[in-house]
Amino acid sequence: MTPDVVPPETMPPEKIVPETMTVVRPQRLRGSVRVPGDKSITHRALIFNAIAEGDARVEGFLDAADTRSTLEALRSLGVAIEQLAPDQLLVHGRGRAGLSEPADVLDCGNSGTTIRLLSGLLAGVPFLSVLSGDASLRGRPMGRIVEPLRTLGARISARAAGTLPPLVVEGGALAGGQRIATAVASAQVKSALLLAGLAADGPTTVVEPARSRDHSERMLGAMGAGIVIEGQTVTLTPPDGDLVAVGVRVPGDISTAAAWIVAATLHPDAELLLEGVGLNPTRSGLIEVLRAMGAEIEELEARTVGGEPVADLRVRSASLVGTRISGEVVPRAIDELPLLALAGALAEGETVIADAAELRVKESDRVATTAAVLRALGVEVEERTDGLVVAGGARLRGAAIEAAGDHRLAMLGAVAGLLADGETVVAGAGAVAVSYPDFWTDLRRLGATAAVVRG
Ligand code: S3P
Repeated sequence: MTPDVVPPETMPPEKIVPETMTVVRPQRLRGSVRVPGDKSITHRALIFNAIAEGDARVEGFLDAADTRSTLEALRSLGVAIEQLAPDQLLVHGRGRAGLSEPADVLDCGNSGTTIRLLSGLLAGVPFLSVLSGDASLRGRPMGRIVEPLRTLGARISARAAGTLPPLVVEGGALAGGQRIATAVASAQVKSALLLAGLAADGPTTVVEPARSRDHSERMLGAMGAGIVIEGQTVTLTPPDGDLVAVGVRVPGDISTAAAWIVAATLHPDAELLLEGVGLNPTRSGLIEVLRAMGAEIEELEARTVGGEPVADLRVRSASLVGTRISGEVVPRAIDELPLLALAGALAEGETVIADAAELRVKESDRVATTAAVLRALGVEVEERTDGLVVAGGARLRGAAIEAAGDHRLAMLGAVAGLLADGETVVAGAGAVAVSYPDFWTDLRRLGATAAVVRG
């Protein structure tokens, strides 16, 4: 059957994504993309500036469902945030004492970063807050913030014996001088504790089992908090008074660029230029792993944007060899592991992903959902408690893919469709709205000969 190619002029309007999208492999993959702003940095720029003294512009912010959850929650706490341009917000900082009790449950949608960071912040603000979200979020573990926040003196409770949302936070005074060792390397947990630490009466130290992304440390340090980092240990000393508002230019999101980096690497006739990608070393595990597998990723115009390293990336087709992904690189590539599993399927030899049990508690159980996607495409894959074993040398055959309500799985299915024989049909394609609302538009533009049709 010849797929029905939708010409550009009849494309559906941007951001209204049909629930099912069909992708076929283009002959060539060429062009450039400026990927949207970094999700983690956007959340932090909004939250930290909301409790700072002064106004701050946030340029190049990610406008997507997750960051809208943070923005609306902050508005419900009395913070004025104006949209000056499609990619520019102005946050009117109120200081922590300027926040007001929300009149309703704070709806964090699908966003783990929103619920965990706001819980840490609200633990130190003297009113009652209730935080919840969608069905996926209500199934995600919260004991990892509830327990350490209680160590700081927070009054916080949650459904299922303190483990699942909704969360109820009765904010109040918090104790400084605490040293907390977290069980998992999670920037969301670390950042929740640092936000609570801002309200404590002394320094707060967080020790992680491996280093997670450090955007909070960078931004809080720039805003006047005392931040000392020694290996996997961070100590925050609250500033005298409030944080100082700081304008932020948000770099492109490497986790979003990852879809194009992997597609261009694996497609046999590809060259893509990805502009302005954030290359913070605590986030760039994907690039290190792919290069070790044989990928051709060039960094051009290296620069610093908003206190973060940034470059344009030129990625060309390459032949890969399988690898083992484990240990300290795992938290630095955590959101990219499904795409790395796909890369493993097309590499020569086996690829093992280990020490990645965290994947099971993301927007979906990404060990199970990634394995299901790969199996549907004809890949031999073994699921382990803490990862995957992927046989290499696969020839992908187009298949029906289920995004399982997970934005990263929808993009994984689409990238697979750019590489597979026949048609790949992605059900739940609209999930990309969580982090990359223009994903399908960009895909159609890049794969000039690809058919992306409505289902
Ligand atoms: C994030 C941290 C990671 C990541 C998530 C965003 C953040 O989660 O998976 O997409 O912005 O801090 P964990 O911190 O739970 O590993």
